[in-house]
Parts: sequence; structure tokens; C-alpha cells
Amino acid sequence: MPTVSAVDPDALLAELVATPEGRADPYPRYAALRSQSPVHRSAFGFWALSRYDDCQHLLRHPGVGKDFSGAVSSLGLSDEQAEEQARFRNDRSNMLTTDPPDHTRLRALATRAFTPRTVERLRPSIVALVEDLLDGFGSEEVDVMDALAFPLPVTVIGEMLGVPAEDRPTLRPLVRSVTAVLELVVTSEAMTEAFVAEQKLEEYFAGLVAERRAHPRDDLLTKLIEAEDQGDQLSEHELISTAILLFAAGFETTTHLIGNGLLALLRHPDELVRLRADRSLVRPAVEELLRFDSPVQLAARVATDDLSIGGHEIPEGSVILALLGAANRDPARFHDPERFDVGRDEGPPMSFGGGIHFCLGAALARLEGQIVLDRLLDRFGTMELVGPPPVVRDSLTLRGLVDLRVRFAA
Ligand code: HEM
Repeated sequence: MPTVSAVDPDALLAELVATPEGRADPYPRYAALRSQSPVHRSAFGFWALSRYDDCQHLLRHPGVGKDFSGAVSSLGLSDEQAEEQARFRNDRSNMLTTDPPDHTRLRALATRAFTPRTVERLRPSIVALVEDLLDGFGSEEVDVMDALAFPLPVTVIGEMLGVPAEDRPTLRPLVRSVTAVLELVVTSEAMTEAFVAEQKLEEYFAGLVAERRAHPRDDLLTKLIEAEDQGDQLSEHELISTAILLFAAGFETTTHLIGNGLLALLRHPDELVRLRADRSLVRPAVEELLRFDSPVQLAARVATDDLSIGGHEIPEGSVILALLGAANRDPARFHDPERFDVGRDEGPPMSFGGGIHFCLGAALARLEGQIVLDRLLDRFGTMELVGPPPVVRDSLTLRGLVDLRVRFAA
């Protein structure tokens, strides 16, 4: 394992959240943090948890919530801008950003579309879509991010929700800009860009809702509109916010499962050979890809009560980070956790979070990941990384690649 320059837990956290080096290579830093101060009250004010059991305890705890209004920084902004952006960052109008009872109400409206059983029905159309995308892979090198990792999940969620195909590429950079708010340290330029992008997304989805209200179809957006029209289940703003959340969460993360996952496999050729020889390993392999390099590295909560976690007393009002990527490499939970092992059978990773906000799209993401692996192995006898090492996105919360150049051959 590479050594890390910082040894003090606060210096490690500062590297992780505020430096490109730390964000690009978090795992040795997580390991150092976990061994020195696994439940750490940082000099920056927030607490950081790096053990699996502590993260799970936090996310399942009834004494935590999502109201970060006291924790939003407005550095370098005018009062008016600060107020507008604080409202935007703390917009509590979809399931990801609300607490019960609003969370329960908002999540219930979409749950049925994402149960493992409903999702399984999508299998044939996802297989056909993957086959179609792989047909476009010639003998030239391919940027897997552009040719597969983005188009597959965006098409799947776009079809489910009812976002027209021709609009999806324009929405991609807007979604990417908005996800900047998930980072712990955000420059004021990135914040402004996120704010503008959010306004454009809201405008777009407001238009789509109006269009779909006039011409209903068999899609999830129409179902949400019907719920809104039936009474007090959903306001117009919540409807638009929910549509944006589902669309964004549906592809931004799964794109990185495919990218990070394929990279891990290509960097561990023995494991790739093992998987090729035994397809029953595809299912556990996807769990291992999620564990080894999770597309989501952290989840934050605010203590709404005094909490006791891992022997530490955490006072009400504290912001607490569950470092999911660190939990996934906790030696108390996973044997030899730095080893990539497609046959590992030690229970699920923390990558989909836990408790009431457990990822709604987990079954869909798993299915897409399994189909991609299976079809790639079927179609291509060799896959090799080409060119310089792939560039990692400069963000900690959402971890993924900018590009992934691979040469495939039958
Ligand atoms: C590999 C892919 C994915 C990963 C790693 C992932 C990860 C996560 C995590 C960690 C959370 C919890 C956040 C928190 O506790 O604050 C979450 C929530 C959520 N995810 Fe995913 N996700 C993935 C794919 C998807 C897909 C395909 C969808 C489909 C729409 C989706 C929709 C959601 C939604 C709606 C929530 C909010 C649930 C709630 O707050 O009750 N995700 N996801």
C-alpha cells in the first residue's frame, strides 16, 4: 500500500477532502485514519467514522437526520447570494434530503418501480441495450465511459422515467455540475455553476411535467404526476425535485460502478481469468466491485439527539460523516480487505448506504452491473487497458473515472 504523507488524523482528513491527491487516492488515508482515530471528532467541526459497524450504526440510528441548514457555509458570497444558495443546498424536497414523515411519503411514491421483482422485468431490455452498445465496439480502442458506462444507465433510467433520448446528453453536464454540492469542500465557482445547473434542470423538468400532464404515458413521471394530481401526496416542487433526483441518481453512480469496476478487473488479470472461467461468480463479483472502489464514498448526517457511537459521545447538532469507502476496507468486517477477490462472500458492502435512506436503486444498479460483466465476458476474449492511466474525477463523495480506454477483441 502506498504510504501517506500525513499522520495526524486532521491532516489526513484535510488531505482527503481538500486536496486532489487525497481525493484521487483515499484508501491509504482511510486505513491510517481508521487505525488512529476510527470515530474522529475533527478540527473542522464534523465527526468522521471509518469502521463498518459504526457507519452502519449511524445510518440506522433514529437519532440522525438530514437538516444541514446550520452547517452550510456561505464564504465569499453576498448576503443575497448566500441566502439563495443556502436555500438551494438545503432544499428539502425529495427523499434524499428529508426526514420522516416527509421522507416516508416521498420515498413511498417511487418505491414500487425499484423493487427487485419489478427491476428484474427490465432484464431483457437491458441485455438488448448492452448488446447494442457493444456492437459499436470495433478493433480500435474504446473510451468505455463514453461508449458504455454513461449511455447504458442514462438510457435505462431515462426510459423508466420518460426523459426523451434526444435530451439526455444535454442533461448530463448539468447533472454533473449539480453533484458538486455533494462535496464537502466546494469552491464558490463550482457552487455558482451548480446553482445555475439546478435552475436549468428545474426548468427542463417543469416543462417535461407540463408536457406529460397533457399527454400521459406509461412511465414513472406520469405516475408521479398522477400522485400529485390525486391530492396532497406531492407538491409541484417536490415532483420536479424527485424527478431530478431519480434521473441523476440513476446514472451518475451506475456509470461509475461500470467504470471503476472494469478498471479494477483489468488491473487484476488473475481475477478476470477466474471470473471468465466461472460465470456463477458474476453476482459476487459485482458486490466486490462495489466494495473495492465504491462510486459513493460517504454519506452525511446531523445528530438530532445525543448519540453514542463506538464508545464516543456525539452531541446533538453534530455533522457526522459515514466514510463508506473506508467501511468497505475495514479489516474487522472483510478479511484481507485490500485484496480484490471476485469470489468474496462476506455480505454486502456499505456502498448503498443503510437505514431509511438505503439506496432505492440498488437492485437496478446491481442488475446493470451484472449484465455488463456477463455480456463483456461473452463477447470479448481479451480486454486490455491502453494509453496513459485513466484520469480519476476530482471529487471524494462521487468517485469515478473521466475516461477509460480499453481495447477489446473477440
Ligand atoms: C452503483 C450505483 C449506486 C450507488 C453506489 C448508490 C449509492 C447510494 C447511496 C450511498 C445512497 C444513500 C445516501 C445517503 O444515505 O445519504 C443512495 C440513495 C439513493 N439512491 Fe442510489 N446508488 C446507486 C445507484 C442508484 C440508482 C440506479 C438509482 C435509481 C434511480 C438510485 C437512486 C437513489 C435514490 C432515489 C436514493 C435516495 C434514497 C432515500 O433517501 O431514501 N441509486 N444511493
